[in-house]
Amino acid sequence: PANTLLPKPQMGWNSWNVFKCDIDEGKIKAAADAMVSSGMKAAGYEYVVIDDCWAEQYRDGSGNLVAHKVRFRSGIKALADYVHARGLKIGIYSSAGLHTCTASPEGFKQPGSIGHEQQDANLFASWDIDYLKYDNCGDRLGQSNEQRYTAMGKALRNTGRDIVYAVCNWGEAEPWLFVPRVGGNSWRTTGDIWDSWTAVTSLLDQQKGLEPFAKPGAWNDPDMLEVGNGHQTLTEYRSHFSLWALLNAPLLSGNNLATMSADIRDILTNRDVIAVDQDWGGSQGRLVRDLGNGTQVWAKPNSDGSVAVVLFNRGTATTTVSTTAAEVGLGGSTSYSLKDLWSKAQSTSTGSISASVPGHGVVMYRVWRQGATVAPPASGVHQVSAMP
Ligand code: DGJ
Repeated sequence: PANTLLPKPQMGWNSWNVFKCDIDEGKIKAAADAMVSSGMKAAGYEYVVIDDCWAEQYRDGSGNLVAHKVRFRSGIKALADYVHARGLKIGIYSSAGLHTCTASPEGFKQPGSIGHEQQDANLFASWDIDYLKYDNCGDRLGQSNEQRYTAMGKALRNTGRDIVYAVCNWGEAEPWLFVPRVGGNSWRTTGDIWDSWTAVTSLLDQQKGLEPFAKPGAWNDPDMLEVGNGHQTLTEYRSHFSLWALLNAPLLSGNNLATMSADIRDILTNRDVIAVDQDWGGSQGRLVRDLGNGTQVWAKPNSDGSVAVVLFNRGTATTTVSTTAAEVGLGGSTSYSLKDLWSKAQSTSTGSISASVPGHGVVMYRVWRQGATVAPPASGVHQVSAMP
């Protein structure tokens, strides 16, 4: 049963990339507070998602999962209330097996939801949970991939509450073929990201060919963001963020929001780039041309008729990367307006789209056909482009 959630890719924060299993309610509350105070909420971030290691090792006498007695001592309902009071939504995590993936600081793995799907979904709904990330660890009791993820999809719908179903069945063949059918709103397309340039480029390369499977309510998930976790340059983080937006990927920040620098905040809150991610123009972005020297052109149609273009330099030396309006699917005009989504500079062109791009960097444009009567778009305003 499909649901009507996530008409746009989810935006939010998840505890995993920065904290792994070392989480507690204070860190989750601090992330919610910082999401508001940093301006991320205003920029569209909404879900605060608790990842692995929030529960005790046992189920209680009724068979219910139990929030960790020390690290989540106030309980998940109180945490949900705290997050909701800030105008945000709350997500939680479980696994489609007998236990989750990673041992807690105390040295145990919490129970997974297999065989307890309805009970756990009901518990999450009773806590006012808005989002479930459903991982792929623990004994499967002989069930198929599809059976396990179908069971939780049905259970969530049975609760009657709107709970986004973020499927995390990494390591399985072609989840995109069945996840939308069982009510999943997104599915992981790869193994885990880590905070390195190699990971970002490798995950990016694995998205090629998956464009036909994404649509509103059902998104390819190349995994969460590493922006701000310290092992890449600002140039590299800008590339990571630009390319994930071009893919209509979930924008789930994974850094410490409470301590991030202004530079990192500015990347995560770039509204022009976010607008590309959140817009559905009929397809997620794709590789348009690999120029063979470590440079690539990626492009995505937008619903206003414009096209988002990422000129990408995977090499280490500054290089000019060029394409044309026609090549990115925007032919038929003699005049185009361009906005550089990072520098905010606006320009016009007769068709060439070109820039000097630093090593491991991008230049990201939004390009409109310019009709005789249409002025270049004002900053932040995305007008409908004129036809030639
Ligand atoms: C594997 C997932 O892919 C990660 O995102 C994270 O949820 C860990 N499991 C938690 O154990």
